Amino acid sequence: MPEKTRLLVLDDDRAHAEAAAESLERAGYDCSIAVSGTEGLRRLEEGGFDLVLTDLVMRDVSGLEIVRRARALSPETEVIVMTGYPSYETALEAMDEGAYDYLNKPIDLNILRAKIRKAVEKQKLVRSNVELKKQLDRRYGFEGILGGTERMQAAIDTLRQVSPSNATVLILGESGTGKELVARAIHVNSARRAHRFMPLNCAALSETVLESELFGHEKGAFTGASYTHKGRFEAAHGGTLFLDEIGDLPSAIQVKLLRVIEYGEVFRVGSNDPIKVDVRLLAATNRDLSVLIREGRFREDLYYRLKVVTIELPPLRDRLEDIPLLVQAFIEEFSTKYGHKAPEFTPAALELFYDYGWPGNVRELRNCVESMVVLDKDGRIDAEDVPRYVKSPEGSDSPSGVGGVNLEEGEKESIRKALAKCEGNREKAARMLGIGERTLYRKIKRYGFN
Ligand SMILES: Nc1ncnc2c1ncn2[C@@H]1O[C@H](COP(=O)(O)OP(=O)(O)OP(=O)(O)O)[C@@H](O)[C@H]1O
Ligand SMILES: [Mg+2]
Repeated sequence: MPEKTRLLVLDDDRAHAEAAAESLERAGYDCSIAVSGTEGLRRLEEGGFDLVLTDLVMRDVSGLEIVRRARALSPETEVIVMTGYPSYETALEAMDEGAYDYLNKPIDLNILRAKIRKAVEKQKLVRSNVELKKQLDRRYGFEGILGGTERMQAAIDTLRQVSPSNATVLILGESGTGKELVARAIHVNSARRAHRFMPLNCAALSETVLESELFGHEKGAFTGASYTHKGRFEAAHGGTLFLDEIGDLPSAIQVKLLRVIEYGEVFRVGSNDPIKVDVRLLAATNRDLSVLIREGRFREDLYYRLKVVTIELPPLRDRLEDIPLLVQAFIEEFSTKYGHKAPEFTPAALELFYDYGWPGNVRELRNCVESMVVLDKDGRIDAEDVPRYVKSPEGSDSPSGVGGVNLEEGEKESIRKALAKCEGNREKAARMLGIGERTLYRKIKRYGFN
């Protein structure tokens, strides 16, 4: 027998409160009554109600205050307000404060029960979705970031820890390793989630455009500036600004960015008036900033400002053990999207996936799975259904445009080093590389090590 839904009925007219409660008890709910706003607030503090039904106009405390309190104490608790006179506006105000619905007095008990039933159904749905998402995250990762390997788990742990703070985070990783995914996860797990997440790709724009995109410009600041433009910093006020490909930021803008970080204010191009901004900064790059610093192309002081916390996302070839998990998740995602039955992924196909270098990382894997799901005819993805470039990465038809040779050399080198460090102990070396022992054996054979 599932637990009864608990309701609090709050009305300073005792007869009304009792009539409503009685009718709801008969409909199978567990009702408590409070006959003043103060008593209502006290009951709310005690907690444990799934739903609150409150009068809007009471002698001691306004119904709006009750709505606010109830939502603040327990966001899951739904509130329905009763309005004694046709004051549509107060009811709307209550909805703005987070009330689920409102009812006009005198209360029609049938309507009341229908509304409560709907609110409870919605609540159950929300709870089961939240629960489902939690279960998935517990098993596979966090906020859709999948990864069970040690390095991914470490990245996810840091992400969880750093999200609620205001710290600047530098996210490092090759293309397609999930840098933007991580940036969005940080934002939605911070108190800034109600404000904007504003991404800006620093490599995509010319220096002048980038400058006015970031900081804004005044009307007439330069030829063609025919209106005043608020920059991304101002637009992201209260929220998060994600500067992607930060390694490509021109030096003049690096200086200005440093200033914003230090003083928390921006100057629009063509203006000398500082504008205060409250923005959390996240930055990402697939380049090696230490090399850029050495070459004089990236300011060291800015680098230290950005890397208060660093999250490094490993390339997929260093976490081959995550492949089955990712493949399964993407098969499910695209089967649902295209209305197909999820195809079976055979071990022979998986084997080919392990052997490929995935220069485009998770993005490439995801696209690859999408195409295989779309093209699937017999509900089975076998070796022959795997795209040719995955089977023969050295071939000229690699979609990445990156030669397979360098990657392979890199991989070979990593394996050589790992084996040396672990004094030839393959089990240890595999663990160090974040790959399965079987995979390591195969690679050792392929590269002709002994
Ligand atoms: N760990 C992961 N789990 C699930 N999906 C992932 C993961 N990493 C990346 N993806 C998916 O791969 C794609 C690319 O991710 P994202 O855009 O975050 O990469 P990126 O590092 O920002 O790449 P780039 O440097 O090219 O901008 C997205 O569709 C994303 O959902
Ligand atoms: Mg990106």
